[in-house]
Amino acid sequence: MEVSIIGSGTMATGITQVLCISNEVSKVNLIARTEEKALASKNTCAKNISRLARKGKISEEQASFALEKLYCCSELATVVNSDLIIEAIVEDFTAKMVLFAKLAEFINESVIIASNTSSLSITAFASVLPNPKNVVGLHFFNPAPIMELVEIIVGHETAFAIVEQLQTLTKNLGKVPVVVQEAPGFVVNRMLIPMINEAVSILAEGVANAEDIDKAMKFGAHHPMGPLALADLIGNDVNLSIMETLYNETGDPKYRAHPLLRKMVRANHLGRKTKKGFFEY
Ligand code: CAA
Repeated sequence: MEVSIIGSGTMATGITQVLCISNEVSKVNLIARTEEKALASKNTCAKNISRLARKGKISEEQASFALEKLYCCSELATVVNSDLIIEAIVEDFTAKMVLFAKLAEFINESVIIASNTSSLSITAFASVLPNPKNVVGLHFFNPAPIMELVEIIVGHETAFAIVEQLQTLTKNLGKVPVVVQEAPGFVVNRMLIPMINEAVSILAEGVANAEDIDKAMKFGAHHPMGPLALADLIGNDVNLSIMETLYNETGDPKYRAHPLLRKMVRANHLGRKTKKGFFEY
């Protein structure tokens, strides 16, 4: 199977790594906005795969095979021979719609088009693609090489056969798939991001400082990391965008983004990617 990944951020790079290591996939084509971004993402992926080999998690042979099948470029037209295309660009509805409309020029009806969106509508993306039955959500979690879950999102017209195919593929990638009907935030983000938003509220009210809020959830609820460190890992721009989707789609005030979260984004304190969020990196 040949797979194209569109994007070059944390998620695109992590998903590329997962695919390269899998025996199910014969070629991985990473497509970014520029050649430089594509190369940077390929290099990060190669570095992480080599590290896995050094740690003995995969053999040297597996690592070199994984790297041999990885290609990168900035030409959308190279998706032409793909069996599966995974979109993992910025979490912005308009940007994704523009990309899918462009993609429609290059694809045949049999290719499966998956979006790694964390909360946006698969049905809307499908509306600009030639075969809406083959359009589906494939939502990996950050860090993609570590987190087992993949939400398979069923849009209004997604064919059951496509869902079944992706259940098999994700299991073969070593992941745990769950099938989710399209709904704002799907399952995980509908619970997880409001929890992060609540942690921001607790911080803003001065109930506890950031370290103690995180310590409380790590040691009081056995979370692997505290909600504010997790906010920084996900990215506050993504957290805000998901809260806005939940609020706009449901109209429910319980999903209102906390003004401090908004302020953090305006200050470009996005988390690990800008080296400053609720903590410094
Ligand atoms: N990329 C790849 N590998 C990573 C990594 C990263 N960003 N961060 C850590 N790892 C690896 C480490 O190399 C290490 O591997 P080895 O065991 O082979 O050495 C392993 O993960 C454990 O790492 P650490 O010992 O450094 O730290 P840890 O035990 O605290 O684990 C963690 C780190 C896996 C991130 C863990 O804290 C965790 O599970 N946190 C919760 C993450 C989470 O909830 N993610 C979902 C976010 S929501 C989302 O993604 C959806 C969305 O749409 C927004």
